[in-house]
Amino acid sequence: MTVTAYQTVKEMLIQSPKTWLITGVAGFIGSNLLETLLLLDQRVVGLDNFATGFKHNLDEVQGLVSDEQWQRFTFIKGDIRQLADCSKACKGIDYVLHQAALGSVPRSIADPINTNDTNISGFLNMLVAARDAQVTSFTYAASSSTYGDHPALPKVEANIGKPLSPYAVTKYVNELYADVFARTYGFNTIGLRYFNIFGKRQTPDGAYAAVIPKWTAAMIAGDDVFINGDGDTSRDFNFIENAVQANILAATANGDAKNQVYNVAVGGRTTLNTLFIALKDNLAINGVNYTQEAVYRDFREGDVRHSQADISKIQKALGYAPQFDIIQGIEKAMPWYVESLNKKC
Ligand SMILES: NC(=O)c1ccc[n+]([C@@H]2O[C@H](COP(=O)([O-])OP(=O)(O)OC[C@H]3O[C@@H](n4cnc5c(N)ncnc54)[C@H](O)[C@@H]3O)[C@@H](O)[C@H]2O)c1
Repeated sequence: MTVTAYQTVKEMLIQSPKTWLITGVAGFIGSNLLETLLLLDQRVVGLDNFATGFKHNLDEVQGLVSDEQWQRFTFIKGDIRQLADCSKACKGIDYVLHQAALGSVPRSIADPINTNDTNISGFLNMLVAARDAQVTSFTYAASSSTYGDHPALPKVEANIGKPLSPYAVTKYVNELYADVFARTYGFNTIGLRYFNIFGKRQTPDGAYAAVIPKWTAAMIAGDDVFINGDGDTSRDFNFIENAVQANILAATANGDAKNQVYNVAVGGRTTLNTLFIALKDNLAINGVNYTQEAVYRDFREGDVRHSQADISKIQKALGYAPQFDIIQGIEKAMPWYVESLNKKC
């Protein structure tokens, strides 16, 4: 069996544990990073203001790790819009995984000012604090929304279009600041352009929920599932464990692999119509029979029509090898949704 770069890095980390900072630790991606790092016996500092994250995500991680591993976690309730909070969190850190942001295209259209404050000013605070603390690496959540109106498929890192939403502007500005910090201060970072990440602890609640948790919750509750547009809109849905792998590989990367942005996806493309059937079929395996048809409505403002990543850059530079395709990801995520949503009913 071939040993993957990810396995090698995980073994190295177990032998020589590091101190990590995860911003946005109470959120979906942050709490999954926390779980994996604690299971690898790492020391983790987490920063969050609970804007869109939840204490119950942290409680759930606590239940999944040993008491000894949980003791290695320090939580700071703080806000990345405050430089002092960022500086406090960066003290003594080896690797920063900066996830905190206000996600969602529609939220940014409804409230561009708050999205800008958190995603741009907060990001700049984190760069300054991490640079001043002389951390070993800084990995941040970029976004596939940066491809904007560029028509090419699959998406290659170097070819981007014009942003289609305030959210996309903020994520592109992150990349510009990161690049300028490398040029002006020699502070090298890695940006991970996530393509529709999904999995456990991604909230189905609220107006800005992502499509997989939102539809899954609606199906379990027997509610209508709405498809924006004709259902032919497509995305490169990527299971959370692949994104965790990308973060760990990026944090520990060296040399020319730094000061880059990488697509983080599986390199596939699934339409909303196909996703609807896949979720319905998988729920049936988990004992939930959803018999309704999807309800079609208008396209959503600011949405990209098709999205699919070329992942060759991250494969070559970081040794990234996604372990789950969309169907395998849904299979892993679904029992968690069924259990946690049934608990709520
Ligand atoms: N989920 C995806 O598919 C996806 C796709 C592209 C990019 N991203 C990016 O990945 C990152 C994580 O996304 P997620 O899906 O886990 O979202 P999430 O909303 O679950 O997590 C974001 C976390 O950041 C915290 N946060 C927000 N503002 C903050 C502030 N001012 N100070 C401190 N903490 C703050 C929230 O409370 C939350 O816990 C974000 O940067 C997002 O833009 C996610």
